[in-house]
Order: sequence, then C-alpha cells, then structure tokens
Amino acid sequence: MAVHFARYNEYVNFGFGARETIVPYIKTRGYKKALVITDKDLIKFGVTAKVTDILDANKIEYAVFADVDPNPAFEEVFNALDKYHAENCDFVIGVGGGSPLDVGKLVGTIVANSDLEDGFSYEHFYACAPFKNKAKFIAITTTAGTGSEGSAAAAIKDNVLHVKRSFNDPSMVPPFAIVDPELMMSVPPKVRAACGMDALTHAIESYISTVAFPVSQMAAIGAMELIGKYLVKSVKDPSDREAVEAMSMAQYMAVMSFAQGRLGLVHCMAHMLSAYYNTAHGVANAMLLATVLEFNAQSPTARARYPKIAQALGVDTRDMTEDEGVEACLKTIRDMADELGIPKTMNEIGAKIEDADDLARLALEDKLLPTNPVQPSQEQVKELYLKLFV
Ligand SMILES: NC(=O)c1ccc[n+]([C@@H]2O[C@H](COP(=O)([O-])OP(=O)(O)OC[C@H]3O[C@@H](n4cnc5c(N)ncnc54)[C@H](O)[C@@H]3O)[C@@H](O)[C@H]2O)c1
Ligand SMILES: [Fe+2]
Repeated sequence: MAVHFARYNEYVNFGFGARETIVPYIKTRGYKKALVITDKDLIKFGVTAKVTDILDANKIEYAVFADVDPNPAFEEVFNALDKYHAENCDFVIGVGGGSPLDVGKLVGTIVANSDLEDGFSYEHFYACAPFKNKAKFIAITTTAGTGSEGSAAAAIKDNVLHVKRSFNDPSMVPPFAIVDPELMMSVPPKVRAACGMDALTHAIESYISTVAFPVSQMAAIGAMELIGKYLVKSVKDPSDREAVEAMSMAQYMAVMSFAQGRLGLVHCMAHMLSAYYNTAHGVANAMLLATVLEFNAQSPTARARYPKIAQALGVDTRDMTEDEGVEACLKTIRDMADELGIPKTMNEIGAKIEDADDLARLALEDKLLPTNPVQPSQEQVKELYLKLFV
C-alpha cells in the first residue's frame, strides 16, 4: 500500500474582496513590516495598490520590491533578500503571478531558516532541505494560474547553468494564501490564456501521474471541468466576473491535485523552453501538452484515463471506445490551444533546431520526471521537441 503525501496551505481565502482578510492574519501574528514582492506591470496596472492600500489603511508598514521579471532568476531572489534586510522587514507578502510568488516564497523560506542565509546558493538550499521552519510568507495570486500560492514549489532560472529548476519542500507551502478574483480582472487575454493552460497542464499531468490517487484525481477532474467550461470564456470576455472567479477556483483545484499527484514530462520540457527562449511558462506547456500526451499514451494506465479527461473537458465520451476517447482528449486540447491563440511551432518562439539535444538532456534531469507515466530516453525527448518544428 502506498503512502500519499498531501501538503496544503494552513489558511486559504477565496472570493472577490478576500484580500482584506490579510489584516487580521498579520495583526494576530504581530508582524511589523512586510516586504511586498511584486512586479513593475502590477504596479503600473494598479494591482499591487489593491493590496498596499489595505496595508496603508491599517497602518501596517511595508517596503516594495518590484524587480521581478517573468521567469525569474536567482539574482532576483538575492536582490529581494538584500532589500528585506535593508528595510528591516519581518515577513514577506507576494503579490503577483507565479513569478513574484516564487521569488517571495524563496525569500520567505530563507528568512524563516536563518541557517540558510550564510553563503546561500543553489546547492546550499538543496542541502538544507527539509527546512525546519515554514516560510514567513503570505501569497496573494493575481493570475489563474500557476497555483504557486498553494504549492510547495518555486521555479527559478539559474543563468550560470542556463537551466530552470523547480525547488520543492513542504515548508515552502505558503501558510496563508489569498485567491481574490478582483486582482485577476486586469490580466491581459494572452496571459489569461497561458495561465489557464498551465492550470490545465497541472490537472492533466497530475491526473495521469504514477502517484495519482483518488484525492488528487478528484481535484484534477474538478479543475478540468471548470477549465473546460470557463477558460475560453474568461479569455474572450475579460469582464466576465463569473468566468474569472471560476478560473480562480479551477487553478487552485489544479494545485491541490499536483501538490499530491505531482507533474511530468510536459513541465520538464517546458522548463527548458523558458530557460532557453524565455517562453512564458503556460505557453510552453500548452504547446507541448497534446504532443507529450500522445507519447504518454503508450502507458496503458495513463491511456485509460484520457477519455475521462475528455469527458471532464466537456466531450460526451459515454458511447466511445477507449481509442475514440483518447482521440477526443487530444483533439479537445489541441482545439482549445488553437482557440486561445497559443503558438503551434517551436519556430514561432524562436527555438533553434540545433539546441534540441541540449534541451532533451536537460529536460531529462528535471526533478518532475520520475512521476511521468513513461520514462523516456533522451532520443525520444529530442524527437518530441523536433515534432514541433516546421
Ligand atoms: N511554484 C509553482 O508551483 C509554479 C507552478 C507553475 C508555474 N510556476 C512559475 O510561475 C511563473 C509564471 O507565472 P504566471 O504565469 O502567473 O505569470 P507571471 O507572474 O510571470 O506574470 C506574467 C505577466 O502578467 C502580468 N500580470 C500578472 N497578474 C496581472 C494582473 N492581475 N493584471 C495585469 N497583469 C498581470 C505580470 O505583470 C507579467 O507581466 C513561471 O516562472 C513558472 O515557472 C510556478
Ligand atoms: Fe506549471
């Protein structure tokens, strides 16, 4: 009998206006000064202010660190850490999509575990896990989404090694998360599409992973049902509050599924596209999803689950054979990506065919690979990348 590990936030509040609930949380803990980690666009669009206005109104001190780029690198973590100390902060609030949240999560983990601060490095960080103390971190997501606000992971680029890696530790699950769709209303359609496809990839990869079990699969199916019904709607009509709220829940259900069910080859391969070509994470996943699922269909256990994925996404598969259900699953995902305007080819993201060997080698080293239903060879991963070139 296998043991399954579930790691969730201690508190997570949902709904329009949920961000107001950070005040009692902060006051109860006696925190004095926050480092708000966010990004420049969020400041420009007034999203960060929707949180800092609450801090101002309640006389909670804070400093702001906004130098986080999409696909953040280690340097951003170091710089934020310097600001945390220079400003005498004693906790971290992340306001953003996965990029500011992942930086915030690492800073919140490092400051809660003072033994990490000396000579902090990749290796040092890995060597010290599992961490003794939980991250001092409130995660407020502004996209739907990566689910970073609910996950034990942070994905960071190493510009020296030229890779993007995912760190995982139970102590990194943010103790308190806010999923407030009001903060997501201003997300541009392209980002909505990419983030929604990231959430779909989380749900599907965890649903077919080798460690999937009824609890993770229940969350995955719930996420897929909402994504099938609301993702395209939320992209086509940015003012549709019902669709944005549904997607905010869907992406959280997807993180509940992958927190226990883990991920797989799509993410391993996508990480390398982000590292090499700075491709948005959700776009990279969306481009690869159907092609990698086709490959994973050689696992009979995974394959048997594809018709259920199609059904959750809104296809009536009840009278279909398994083969027909598999086809319906792949077609639905491809159609959805097309409708959302996701690039179809590696050429469109500036990928170079001569990089394919390196991409494949590095993807195989990714920590998310072991739970993929099929363990591929380097040659097979290279073939999958090559399929997407024209
Ligand atoms: N930790 C995890 O579990 C996990 C899971 C999946 C992905 N990730 C990581 O998350 C990152 C991607 O995060 P993301 O897709 O949320 O995007 P992002 O955080 O990189 O943001 C993308 C763009 O959208 C803008 N944006 C975000 N919210 C907005 C809003 N409300 N209004 C207007 N603009 C807004 C940002 O300013 C930015 O320009 C990647 O680095 C990825 O690897 C982490
Ligand atoms: Fe992801």
